[in-house]
Amino acid sequence: MTKSVDEVRADIPFLRTGIIYLDNAATTPTPEPVIEAMLSYYHEFSANVGRGLHRATRRATEEFEAAREKVARVIGAKPSEIIFTKNTTEAINIVARGLDLKKGDKVITSLFEHHSNLLPWQRLEKERGVRLEVVGSSKECLLDPVEFEVAMDKNTRLITTHHVSNAIGSIQPVEEIGKLARDHEVLYLVDAAQSVGHMPVDVRRIGCDFLAAPGHKGLLGPQGTGFLYAREDKIFELEPLLTGGGIVEDVELHGAKLVDPPQLFDAGTPNIPGIIGLGKACEYVMDIGIDKIAEREKKLTERMLVIGKYSQVEVYGPMNLNRRGGVVSFNISGLGPHEVASMLDELAKIAIRSGHHCAQPTFRHLKINGTARASVHYFNLETEVEKFVELVGQIAREMGTL
Ligand code: ALA
Repeated sequence: MTKSVDEVRADIPFLRTGIIYLDNAATTPTPEPVIEAMLSYYHEFSANVGRGLHRATRRATEEFEAAREKVARVIGAKPSEIIFTKNTTEAINIVARGLDLKKGDKVITSLFEHHSNLLPWQRLEKERGVRLEVVGSSKECLLDPVEFEVAMDKNTRLITTHHVSNAIGSIQPVEEIGKLARDHEVLYLVDAAQSVGHMPVDVRRIGCDFLAAPGHKGLLGPQGTGFLYAREDKIFELEPLLTGGGIVEDVELHGAKLVDPPQLFDAGTPNIPGIIGLGKACEYVMDIGIDKIAEREKKLTERMLVIGKYSQVEVYGPMNLNRRGGVVSFNISGLGPHEVASMLDELAKIAIRSGHHCAQPTFRHLKINGTARASVHYFNLETEVEKFVELVGQIAREMGTL
């Protein structure tokens, strides 16, 4: 079974508002089957998970754990390697706080990370004396594994990089970096916020130890959901961010025996409807076919890149479509990114993001304050992209005549 673009569009109520939604790197709209899965929780078995024996709690627990299997399937992992989180940021923080990283240990990251893959490490620098080295030099914001190799020393414990840049769209050589990390027995965390659901992602192929991802972007799942993959032999090395109810086998006044991961990371009542929705969303994108999503996004991105032909428009990042995800970051000379975004919204209800995209070091590197950013998903139409290109051209021409 596969789903056509028209079928997917018919499934997404938000698109009926007439919006041309090109802000998929920020979050994606939710298809009806995902909304229905969450509603069925509220209507039919609205109980807690992992606690009690009544039929509703058993059903809720079954569906919650089934979501773990579905997430695992998307990235080629085992359910026992999936920790649910509220977003990618939380997943990265679990690794940063949960690993036993000490004074003198080195963490290497890149200049082109989202703030969520920089600030957690900066905190370790301040609080624990961990040494943070930041590498990256390319104008296209592409990472070079050699720069990581050069930065490594005998105290390097972890490398962490994004897979696809949210700010610029560059696709990074995560498999090469993963191999380098393995060869040097260094841990590797991948921030897959912009790749999971948009393109095939296989944790065994990448050879990473950890992978952080959102439910609400490429996977078309609900906001407030995400996950951390932790390889089965590494998940036991992570200390959970939270401790408390729902993760114990036995509690005394001064000690407790806790359950094993991944349930060890489910302290407190989790976002049960959200996670059930996330499970449904994983099924949904697998029904479309992640290869098909990637292929379509590439075609749409190629069309969007046409804006680079206008002399007043500068597009950032790689032009090679094999090195660019469905994100096109650009500026129109004489206008700020927010002005461009507002004009597109006013003129044709086109939604794009503008600003520094939570990646300020990337823009300092490029010597600009920010960009206007359009980002696609499978459901976007060629006609929507054409409209975007036409209006960017119109605005650019008007600027040219001022
Ligand atoms: N990280 C998200 C973005 O790039 C919110 O827009």
